[in-house]
Amino acid sequence: MSLETAAALLRGAARAVALTGAGVSTESGLPDFRSPGGLWAGVDPMRVASLAAFRRDPAGFYAFYQERLSRLGGARPNPAHRVLADLERVGRLRAVITQNVDGLHQAAGSRRVLELHGTLRRAACPDCGERADIAAFTDALAAERMPRCSVCAGPLKPDVVLFGEVLSLEIFAEADALCREADLLLVVGSSLTVRPAAELPQAVLDHGGRLVIVNREPTPYDGDASAVIRDNAGRAVPALAALAAGGPRGAAEEEQHG
Ligand code: APR
Ligand code: ZN
Repeated sequence: MSLETAAALLRGAARAVALTGAGVSTESGLPDFRSPGGLWAGVDPMRVASLAAFRRDPAGFYAFYQERLSRLGGARPNPAHRVLADLERVGRLRAVITQNVDGLHQAAGSRRVLELHGTLRRAACPDCGERADIAAFTDALAAERMPRCSVCAGPLKPDVVLFGEVLSLEIFAEADALCREADLLLVVGSSLTVRPAAELPQAVLDHGGRLVIVNREPTPYDGDASAVIRDNAGRAVPALAALAAGGPRGAAEEEQHG
C-alpha cells in the first residue's frame, strides 16, 4: 500500500524535491554512517571528521579521508541515483538536496543537486577558502607530503563540512526555500538525525506538504510521513517511479502485492 500511496503522491506532485542521505549510496558500495558496520561504527566522528581533529591530528584525519576517497574511485551510481535523475529530467522532481559528498547524483545525471555537506570531489583550504582539485589532496598524501594550499600554504582538506564547521548558508537557504514550496519531499536513505538537514522535512510539513520516506530503518519523521517504504532504495525508487508513471509494477511492488 505504501508504494501505491507514494506513487500517487509523486504522480500528483507539482513541486516535488528529494532529500537523500548515505543510504542512497550503500548499493553503490559506499558505507553509510549509522547502520551496523557504518562509518561511525567503532570510529568517533569527532576524532576523524571534525575541524578540531583536522587541526589537532591531521594524520588521523588524512587516514580516514584517504580511505573514504579510495572507496569513491570505484563507486558508480545505482538505480536509485539514476531514477532520481530521470525524475528531474521528466519534470517530476525539481532538485535533489543531498547530505552525501560522493558526487553520485551528478554522475547519474541529476542537474540541480544541493550538496549540504560539501563534496569529496574537491579540496578546500579552511584558512583562505581556496578551492582545488581533489588531486591536490590525494597526490600529496600519496607522496607522503602534507596537502598544502597553493595560495596560503595552509593545510588542505576535502571540501566537506566537518563537525564544528558551518555549512554553506547559501546552499542551505536554497534547500530550505525549495522545501517551503514543496508539495512533496521524497526522503531516500537518511536517518534524518543530523541538523540542519533534519529540519528540512518539517519545513515541508509546516505548510501542508507531504512526506514520503524510503529507508531501511525507522526515522524520527516516520509518524509524519504519508508513506514509509521500508526497502532498499535501489529497488524501491525505480518501483515508485514506474508506478508513478503508470508503468508496470516494480519488483518491490510485485513482492508486496504478488
Ligand atoms: N536503502 C534504503 N535505506 C538505506 C540503505 C539502502 N540501500 N542503506 C542504508 N539505508 C538507511 C539506513 O538504515 C539509515 O537509516 O539509510 C540511513 C542512513 O543514515 P545515516 O547513516 O545516518 O546517514 P545520513 O542520514 O546521510 O547521515 C547524515 O551524518 O555524520 C553525518 O555528515 C554525515 O551526511 C552525514 C549525516
Ligand atoms: Zn589557503
